[in-house]
Amino acid sequence: MRIVIAKDYQALSKKAAHIIAGQLIMKPDSVLGLATGSTPLGTYQTLVTMVEDGLASFSQAQTFNLDEYYGLGPQDPQSYYYFMQQNLFSRVDMRSNCIHIPDGLAGDVQMECLRYEEQIRRHGGIDLQLLGIGRNGHIGFNEPDLKFEAITHLVALDQDTIEANARFFDEPSQVPRQAISMGIKTIMHARKILLLASGKEKASTVYQMVYGDIRPELPASVLQIHPDVTIIVDEAAAEGLAQMRGTDTSYIRIE
Ligand code: PGA
Repeated sequence: MRIVIAKDYQALSKKAAHIIAGQLIMKPDSVLGLATGSTPLGTYQTLVTMVEDGLASFSQAQTFNLDEYYGLGPQDPQSYYYFMQQNLFSRVDMRSNCIHIPDGLAGDVQMECLRYEEQIRRHGGIDLQLLGIGRNGHIGFNEPDLKFEAITHLVALDQDTIEANARFFDEPSQVPRQAISMGIKTIMHARKILLLASGKEKASTVYQMVYGDIRPELPASVLQIHPDVTIIVDEAAAEGLAQMRGTDTSYIRIE
């Protein structure tokens, strides 16, 4: 794991955007795995500016999003499809037929999950997967569990996730109870992973992800065994890591 501690959210967002832009420069037809939530918003905003300034281009990229709420269609303002359109896709030079997001209205969910996996495979696998992390340690919507769920699947959202995501809805009761999410194996097959965490409410989860046992009760802990993971945290989210100074933290770069 490569851990970069950025001064604040803005610095974190710039670094993440630069890594994604660098990926697109090195391989313009990259397959990017993308995430929703509050954390990547600054990264997407920075990427929009970079595209406007001619410093990055999505024109040959393919994108696969981690997840989608089950029961919400692309026109629903709470859907992740809508989120991605608003915050990135409609604002950069992305081709609409190269955008892939699980279909939250799929009649046959099992088929949809298999179709999504097959599409990722057909495009050669994910080059760079962007991740946030839930307070409960989830990545995508892989919630704490007794086993690591392997491939794209239908998930029942944790109470903690429902509460955390209620801020995006008028009423907590409106938060969908299920989602379609890439599995842990899908994520682990990405060639590179870039995980972002911001704010002190993520500090203890980040600490457990890096120093805790690898266990499905904290899904992000599995990243310890991925060969190419970069974690960018701001100082608030790095609070727990700071306690480890003096032990083996040689791989942590503080900027
Ligand atoms: P957040 O969500 O970026 O809104 O904190 C992250 C996540 O739940 O994966």
